[in-house]
Amino acid sequence: MGLLLKSLVPFVGLILALWFYSKDDLKPEMLKEKRVIVTGASTGIGEQMAYHLAWMGAHILVTARTEAKLQKVVTQCLELGAASAHYVNGSMEDPTLADDVVKRAKQLWGGLDMLILNHISPTYLKYFDGDVEHIRKLLEVNFLSYVAMTLSALPMLKESGGSILVVSSTAGKFAIPFVAPYSATKFALDGFFSSLRQELIIEKVNVSITLCVLGHIDTETAKKTVGHVFWLPPAPKEECALEIIKGGALRKRELYYQYFAVRTSLLIRDWAPEYLDSRTRNHFIVENVKRS
Ligand SMILES: NC(=O)c1ccc[n+]([C@@H]2O[C@H](COP(=O)([O-])OP(=O)(O)OC[C@H]3O[C@@H](n4cnc5c(N)ncnc54)[C@H](OP(=O)(O)O)[C@@H]3O)[C@@H](O)[C@H]2O)c1
Ligand SMILES: *[C@@H]1O[C@H](CO)[C@@H](O)[C@H](O)[C@H]1NC(C)=O
Ligand SMILES: *[C@@H]1O[C@H](CO)[C@@H](O)[C@H](O)[C@H]1NC(C)=O
Repeated sequence: MGLLLKSLVPFVGLILALWFYSKDDLKPEMLKEKRVIVTGASTGIGEQMAYHLAWMGAHILVTARTEAKLQKVVTQCLELGAASAHYVNGSMEDPTLADDVVKRAKQLWGGLDMLILNHISPTYLKYFDGDVEHIRKLLEVNFLSYVAMTLSALPMLKESGGSILVVSSTAGKFAIPFVAPYSATKFALDGFFSSLRQELIIEKVNVSITLCVLGHIDTETAKKTVGHVFWLPPAPKEECALEIIKGGALRKRELYYQYFAVRTSLLIRDWAPEYLDSRTRNHFIVENVKRS
């Protein structure tokens, strides 16, 4: 059984990957002059998404807490060829920021084509220590602010036939140890946005929702938090950022990066969850994980 699974699952994954990619076709013109908000864009994957959107000629509004970093991202975007580039600095812990960012887009462009929800509050990788306050804060920043941004942006997105991109993680699809609070917020995103997608389809609202399920990516934050406890090498953030934009522009339901690794895990999840659990545990250097 184990051997059959081990050989069959990658094979099925490969066929799926080939089928999937044969349909893929992102033309950079698709993003030209599109009006896009990217959250958590001062660094990491969000910053890279802003640069890709810039060379494709989009109008870009970036947001995060650190003003100095956002200013640099905006300058770089303009150099790369963005149709326009602006920022709003502030924390998504502040419940008014979501609406402020969307209002700024309306004021700048009178509309919106793409909302990329990507920011996360800093978190730790360790045994769950009972810190409920930390979970509350993560739910506020990683989940509730995504809902608030979506509510504010939906009228403009309906008007433009736009797209919502929700950046999630394999930790929002199956069991990964040492990230319980973070994982809870990512599962919440899947539940909320997958339900909302169904409603939009029922109501024939032409707004797509793409859930982006990412594996281990080489951002500075990830290298710092998981680098010392994880066996597997991280995938490049530049390529990851491009895949997310591609998935959103093609209005995909879900996006997996790296495709083969994530897709395979998801196939195993539904057929042999215990095997996936143990395989996932084996990816950790458990001795290096902190207790509190
Ligand atoms: N890297 C990975 O291995 C990995 C794996 C799976 C999924 N993902 C997902 O990919 C996305 C990006 O991850 P990343 O690695 O690029 O993260 P990152 O480099 O740490 O970037 C996080 C962004 O969020 C902003 N941010 C932090 N706290 C905030 C707050 N309170 N309010 C508003 N913005 C805030 C940060 O800027 P400021 O500090 O300036 O506010 C930064 O721009 C996340 O959704 C993450 O869950 C990443
Ligand atoms: C934006 O950044 C500046 C400079 O760091 C700061 O003074 C200001 O309070 C920030 N605005 C918000 C809404 O956080
Ligand atoms: C939905 O919006 C997309 C992008 O704006 C457009 O290409 C497509 O034709 C629209 N579909 C319908 C059914 O209106």
